[in-house]
Parts: sequence; structure tokens; C-alpha cells
Amino acid sequence: MRCINCGAVYTPNFRLYRCPKCGGLLEIISPIYWAPSGRGVWRYGTMLPVRQGVTLGEGGTPLVESQLGRGIYIKFEGANPTGSFKDRGMALGITVAKNSGADKVVVASTGNTAASAAAYAARAGMTCYVVLPRGNVARGKLMQAALHGAEIVTIDGFFDRALEYVLTYGTKYAYPLNSFNPWRLEGQKTIAFEIFEELGCPDYVVVPVGNAGNISAIWKGFRELHQLGLCRRLPKMVGVQAEGAAPIAKAWQLGLEEPLFLDNPHTVATAIKIGKPINWRKAVAAVQQSDGFFTQVTDGEILKAQRLLAARDGIGAEPAGAASIAALLKLNLSGTVVAVVTGHALKDPDAVEISTREIRNSEELVHMLEK
Ligand code: F0G
Repeated sequence: MRCINCGAVYTPNFRLYRCPKCGGLLEIISPIYWAPSGRGVWRYGTMLPVRQGVTLGEGGTPLVESQLGRGIYIKFEGANPTGSFKDRGMALGITVAKNSGADKVVVASTGNTAASAAAYAARAGMTCYVVLPRGNVARGKLMQAALHGAEIVTIDGFFDRALEYVLTYGTKYAYPLNSFNPWRLEGQKTIAFEIFEELGCPDYVVVPVGNAGNISAIWKGFRELHQLGLCRRLPKMVGVQAEGAAPIAKAWQLGLEEPLFLDNPHTVATAIKIGKPINWRKAVAAVQQSDGFFTQVTDGEILKAQRLLAARDGIGAEPAGAASIAALLKLNLSGTVVAVVTGHALKDPDAVEISTREIRNSEELVHMLEK
């Protein structure tokens, strides 16, 4: 394991999540080789620090050619077992937690991490604690955490405060599975491997950014394919934030070195309603190294993209998941572009206005159908 801040190197330790010297983020360095076999996340066991483990059949998600423009592909992560990309990370994370001897896991979450951790903990026979920002979590996600039997704690404030709680208190008593845990992120890099197997190396990969772990993980995946000589090029990484929760994108556009952290993020895309992304250094490195960029989209653009993606491509995304689509609709990127749609529409039923037509008899139905 290596600290991305001070460069210190440590022997792999499932209980090491931050650099003991400087508190920086850690990255996993493990012996890897390319020998995909089987399906889903564990298909890439030889590329992961743990070769096999807990599974609900995560990964192997559809890569759909979009009808929204030429060369656009949608990587639909809503098709994972709990409806988001988090399942890839949890397959690894819960396996590592179990191997470390833990019987409890804890996460702060805007919802999807909680839903996923709850399901995978249930599968592994572990207790799961989720710390959620009250009133800021979509209904479907809360329901999932409850259904899978998680202990649900809610706090005043936003996700950033919930994460602080986990960092300060949670790690002492339970195994933390937020994206500062580099073991969990290893599972998420399999998004890159799947894209590579189907498409080769695209020109751009567009990713919604909240706590900034996923874009870093996907980039690590492509980097490893490149290091092994499997792909000759690398994609440009595009990080998308919602306008009211865009600490990294705003700083990037102003040419600043550090994010403009926010105390009061706001956006309809509650999954990425985050003011102080913990993985910002990794994400900025990914975007810089790949010659990509960060951009922001408004709530209006997100909701419009969500509708368009559903109506034209038949893909249902939650608002945060559609942020990547909102970005590419206004960016006009050329070449092959993969937009990662990170979460399923069913996660957030309240984000969609529903219009229905009431009829009183069959004649009214016939009349309608005849039109
Ligand atoms: N899209 C969705 C649907 C998410 O749930 C998240 C993060 C992101 C994008 C952003 O990913 O944090 O790696 O940059 N959700 C976290 C959660 C924060 O608690 O479920 P990121």
C-alpha cells in the first residue's frame, strides 16, 4: 500500500485505511496479471488484491450504445444487484472486512453505499451500521437499508458530517466501508476492465463525482491495463458535479489547486450532494494524468437528461446517475464516449413527476388508443 500524499509504502493491511504518517489517502499496489475468467467483478480476480470472495453477482453490467448521439455508450451501473456501482466495491470491501476478522461494518452515506453495505453485510452474516444525513437520502435507498436489516442512524446536517462521525468514532468499533477505504475502491476499478473488454479504450469516460472515489477507481483500472501493455492509449476522464455541490469542478474551472469546500451543498441529485469530497486528491490526479477535466451541470440539466435517457434509450437513472448524461449533452465530445450511469431510477421515485390519465370506462380507453 502506498500513500498518495507522502509516498510512504506499507505492507498490505486490511485495517489500514489512511496513512499513519500523514493521514493521506492510500492506494493498493498488489501483484496483478490479466486472466479474466467467469463473470462479474470476480472475473478479474487476478487483477484484484483478493482473488475471490463474497458475491451477489455484481458487475457484468450492460454497455449500451446510446441513441442520443454517435459514439456514445452508456455503462449502466443501475443494473447491479442493489442498483448502483457500489456493489462492486462492497463485494471486495465486505470480503476484506470478513477476512480481517470484523463482525461489524459501518458507513456514512447519501444512500447507495448504505443500501449496498446493508445487502452485502447481510449476505456475509455481519452487522451493518449506516449513518445518514436526515432528510437527504432518497426513499428507495433508505428502504433497502431497512429491508436488509441495517442499523440506521440519522444525523442533522449533510453527508460530510456523517462521514466525519464515521472517521472519528466508527473506525474504532467497526470496519469502515466508505470510499476512503482503498480496498473497497479496488472492486470499482472493474468498471474499466469491462469497458475495455467490450470497447477497447474509449476517448472519454464521463463519471458523476460526489466523494470522488469512483472516478479515481476507474482511472486506476485503465492505468493498470496500460501498465500491463493491454491497451496502448488511455481515456480522458471527465468528472461531473452538480452545480450546487461542485467543490472540485468550481475550483478546477478557476485553476485553483484545492477544492472550494462547501458547508451547504444543494442539488436534486442527493447521491452527490457532498461539500467536502474526501478523495479529491485522487480524483484530481486522475483527471490531470488523463488530460481530462471537471465540469458542472445544473439541476435542470440533470432532470432533463434523466428524462431524455429514459425516453430515448430506455434507461432509468436516478438524478446523480444522469449527471454524466447531462454533461455529455452539452459538451459535444468527439470520438468514443462512455458515460457511466451510476444508479437506478427506482432509487429515487420522488425525483420524477408522474402524470396519469383517469378513465371511467372502456370507451374512453378506445378513444385514447385511436388517436
Ligand atoms: N452516483 C451515485 C448514484 C452515487 O450514489 C454516488 C455516491 C456517486 C455517483 C458518486 O460517487 O462518491 O465515488 O464520487 N454515493 C455515495 C453514497 C456518496 O453514500 O452512496 P463517488
